[in-house]
Amino acid sequence: MSTIRLKTPIPGPNSHALSDRRAKAVPRGLSHGTPIYVAKAEDAWLEDVDGNRYIDFAGGIGCANAGHRQEHVVEAIRTQLDKFLHMCVQVTPYEGYIRLAERMNEVTPGKFPKKTLFVNSGAEAVENAVKIARAYTKRPAILAFEDAFHGRTMMTLALTSKTHPYKAGFAPFPSDVYHVPFAYCYRCSYNLKYPSCDLYCARHLEDTFKRVVANEEVAAVIAEPVMGEGGFIAPPPDYFKVLIDLCHKYGILFIADEVQSGFGRTGAMFASEHYGIEPDLIVTAKSLGGGLPLAAVTGRAEIMDTPGPGGLGGTFAGNPISCAAALATLDLFETENLLTRANELGDRFQRRAREWQRRWPLVGDVRGLGGMQAIELVKAQESKAPATEETKQITQYCYEHGLITITAGSYSNVIRVLVPLIATNEQIDEGLDVLESALAAVCDKKGAVAQLV
Ligand SMILES: Cc1ncc(COP(=O)(O)O)c(C=O)c1O
Repeated sequence: MSTIRLKTPIPGPNSHALSDRRAKAVPRGLSHGTPIYVAKAEDAWLEDVDGNRYIDFAGGIGCANAGHRQEHVVEAIRTQLDKFLHMCVQVTPYEGYIRLAERMNEVTPGKFPKKTLFVNSGAEAVENAVKIARAYTKRPAILAFEDAFHGRTMMTLALTSKTHPYKAGFAPFPSDVYHVPFAYCYRCSYNLKYPSCDLYCARHLEDTFKRVVANEEVAAVIAEPVMGEGGFIAPPPDYFKVLIDLCHKYGILFIADEVQSGFGRTGAMFASEHYGIEPDLIVTAKSLGGGLPLAAVTGRAEIMDTPGPGGLGGTFAGNPISCAAALATLDLFETENLLTRANELGDRFQRRAREWQRRWPLVGDVRGLGGMQAIELVKAQESKAPATEETKQITQYCYEHGLITITAGSYSNVIRVLVPLIATNEQIDEGLDVLESALAAVCDKKGAVAQLV
């Protein structure tokens, strides 16, 4: 039985009416990717205010890895609702925060004593990781990567790479942030090929320390083990080991931003595990809260303990209901076998997407790790000119036909898959069918059919 059920033209009249109200009430800076207003969501589907049902390949941008409204999570939230809602952990602490910290210290990579701090959002967690790294090393500078995304607050905007729409117009940003090219092999900044490149992009850090910023000034290198907003870029398997060895050679900390790549998305609990690395600090958010706002910094105990009492925290940080939801969400990774499901989903996606790549020149690259999969769309395979407009048309076709997708990439030409990992094979196939018809429709409209191989 199909999941998608469309009863009205998309968007339907009730969504249209809400779009009109939104235009009057909400600033346009809050983008509006899919003009569909949600009434209900469960598992891997959502229903809009016109009664149309969609398969959700966006998962609230990676916040629903364990699925929308899982009973075990909802039950934990209900139980906590009957006890207390808010306390502020710095004033009157509660066990849920402590239990979750203990659990995070266990599930994150690294066989050394760890501590965890909870905050409200991914950006706030990145900010805190930077504070802690600076306090520990007593150094100011942070190295980040081109194409990276770390959030929309001032420090995280400094770390984020993409200019429009994120950075342009919002400067000045905090200083002492430097960007270097990432291991984006499809568009290598040095025009080299892996493995003959011998990971030049990682080793080039030595040069950066001579020509851009002195190594003794650098507190930390921050990287997404698989880049999210930047376009689902998974570096070669040996990349991070080389990078981290170089960091540690100079007393520089390595911060893994696993906000998007974490919590099972890549088929391991954290993408860092694929690379066999143990980051000094790990930043998490999104699927941690099972749908509620929660983020964390987990790291080596001696580093985490550098700031003195009162140096870390926040009024709502580690809210008791979010902690209860997170504890229940963590259970689901075991009971629902979500890591295995992520790998199955990835294989299923890759099989279909490789066929598309053979069929349509528009599909320039197919890439990903586990369930963190994407296609990068280009005007021609040789030039790799980004097919930004076509990507937009495909996402529009998808939602008009019952599939919610989102784009990524510095050129907004990547379609990424963040479907809840509890999606059934039938739902994944049904979603991929829509994506395939979207590709066919856009290629046909462009006259690209003539280029089919
Ligand atoms: C890798 C990464 N870091 C940080 C953030 C910022 O998280 P938030 O939107 O919760 O502030 C995001 C959000 O997409 C992200 O993908």
